[in-house]
Amino acid sequence: MTQLSAAHTKPSDGSKALYGGKGTRRITVRDITLAKERGEKWPMLTAYDAMTASVFDEAGIPVMLVGDSAGNCHLGYETTVPVTLDEMAVLSAAVVRGTQRALIVADLPFGSYQEGPVQALRSATRLVKEAGVGAVKLEGGERSHEQIRLLVEAGIPVMAHIGLTPQSVNAMGYRVQGRGEEAAAQLLRDAKAVQDAGAFAVVLELVPAELAAEVTRVLHIPTVGIGAGPETDAQVLVWTDMLGLTSGRVPKFVKKYADLREVMGNAAKAFAEDVVGGTFPLEEHSVH
Ligand code: KIV
Repeated sequence: MTQLSAAHTKPSDGSKALYGGKGTRRITVRDITLAKERGEKWPMLTAYDAMTASVFDEAGIPVMLVGDSAGNCHLGYETTVPVTLDEMAVLSAAVVRGTQRALIVADLPFGSYQEGPVQALRSATRLVKEAGVGAVKLEGGERSHEQIRLLVEAGIPVMAHIGLTPQSVNAMGYRVQGRGEEAAAQLLRDAKAVQDAGAFAVVLELVPAELAAEVTRVLHIPTVGIGAGPETDAQVLVWTDMLGLTSGRVPKFVKKYADLREVMGNAAKAFAEDVVGGTFPLEEHSVH
């Protein structure tokens, strides 16, 4: 299918397209719901700091996820498991401060909602009140539906996350989910459970493309794919992967749009050589 430009995806009902729309206010979950009704696709990127988030905001990225992938991509942990609610609150507040238009969604980290709905509500309330995010994300389908229901009843929009759920890496590893009849049926049940509980969108991670397409057809809430093929309503990538800052191997589903690791490394070396060789600072960089 030919990719449409932002100009071509502008809705005809007077409302603004998510990507490419100008907008003088923050995007809301209602805008996301309307985009699905229009059949409009949209991009989501992770962000963990104010400056990077401001670049993506100016580029028109309508939804940013302060993912607990911050664990591996920002905080130097090996997985997302050690990330704390305090850390998520600090990073989320920075991303909110760095943006004006994007809907900011913050991950509830491992251990901040698994005890039950009341713990989930306490944790999510912190991210909404202290950090100012517009929505939270949590992992799990059927197993998390009570948490989702209570948050939604309390007025906190929830993005669900099923398929590969990295917080369960110790139990499930990093494997494609939903392969085989039984697993596919479970994934569909999970998708319907989070929709019934009131989630406004659901991330499908590392799921066969055909299954992700079926879930997208069946649900009335938008699906956000990562390693889930081209048919989902939205696509999300981890920003350090897609801009080439992550060291080592990145998953097959990542498209690398730049090589920041090389750009930054070369700039650092050039600076070091200037300093060592006495060619920085020059007169133009000096004050008198
Ligand atoms: O934490 C994260 O970045 C995520 C995305 C991979 C969806 O959950």
